[in-house]
Amino acid sequence: MNSEKIGLIGCGAMGSALAKGIVKRVGIDPALVYLYDLNRDRVEELALELNAVGADNLEELITQCRQVFIAVKPQDIESLLYSIKDLVHKGQIFASIAAGITISFIESCLPPSSKVIRLMPNTPCLLGEGSIAISAGDNVTPEEREHIEKLLKSMGLTIRIPEYLMDAATGLSGTGPAYVFLFIETMIDAGVAVGFRRDVASEMVVQNVIGSARMLQENNKQPPAELRNSVTSPAGTTTAAMHVLEESGFRSCLLKSVIAATNQAEKLRRG
Ligand SMILES: NC(=O)c1ccc[n+]([C@@H]2O[C@H](COP(=O)([O-])OP(=O)(O)OC[C@H]3O[C@@H](n4cnc5c(N)ncnc54)[C@H](OP(=O)(O)O)[C@@H]3O)[C@@H](O)[C@H]2O)c1
Repeated sequence: MNSEKIGLIGCGAMGSALAKGIVKRVGIDPALVYLYDLNRDRVEELALELNAVGADNLEELITQCRQVFIAVKPQDIESLLYSIKDLVHKGQIFASIAAGITISFIESCLPPSSKVIRLMPNTPCLLGEGSIAISAGDNVTPEEREHIEKLLKSMGLTIRIPEYLMDAATGLSGTGPAYVFLFIETMIDAGVAVGFRRDVASEMVVQNVIGSARMLQENNKQPPAELRNSVTSPAGTTTAAMHVLEESGFRSCLLKSVIAATNQAEKLRRG
């Protein structure tokens, strides 16, 4: 087993984003990246694009790689773990992005003292602009967690959280892009309602969201309310708009949505 080699099981949407980020953005030598998927075409296509190694089987990947990322669907993880259980080496690190699958469940399917990290990414990870919540099992050392975090930087921001907050991370961040997309969709409709062509409204709204988010990022200690107040002049247009949003329950609606998504994540996890 080579301590530098990285394995990736599951080359679908998230898995291939991870592999691309590790090779193209972190700059890991593709000869050290092993890919495996039940779908052979996916492996070959990705291996060709990245110049990475397409493993012929799980045994090849597990015996070669110290860090193993698991990017299969939650319903496929149990059978996958049982199929690799007898191949696992001491010191290997397993990092799973399967939603709702707990560290203790993964540990229970692997040999005792296995090192397990659980991640909750979101779809902007596909562009390297995601956020990834990360929780490490008790057998993972701080250095090992930091090493995995370094590899994940290729997909976006990593945020350490205790595992009990993973359902909340699903409700807030995993589901997060959907709230933003709905907001954008509605703003575009509003743009059309006040007279813009849809394509023009779309350009304006998307840029508005990007620009506002960047203002927050660049003033990262400044609360969003302050930035909002700075564009709200007395008896002005923003005041009129905010009044309608407050009256219509915009805040409470969003709060309830995130809580509902968190509760649903918990419900799904409990089966
Ligand atoms: N997409 C998101 O926004 C998002 C966000 C957070 C977390 N996640 C998590 O990311 C994980 C992957 O999601 P995805 O959207 O990338 O799924 P996906 O596109 O379906 O990719 C999963 C891949 O894994 C393959 N696979 C299944 N069982 C396997 C096995 N035993 N060995 C090797 N490969 C296997 C599948 O092959 P077949 O198609 O032939 O089954 C498929 O190619 C999920 O667990 C999900 O919960 C996704």
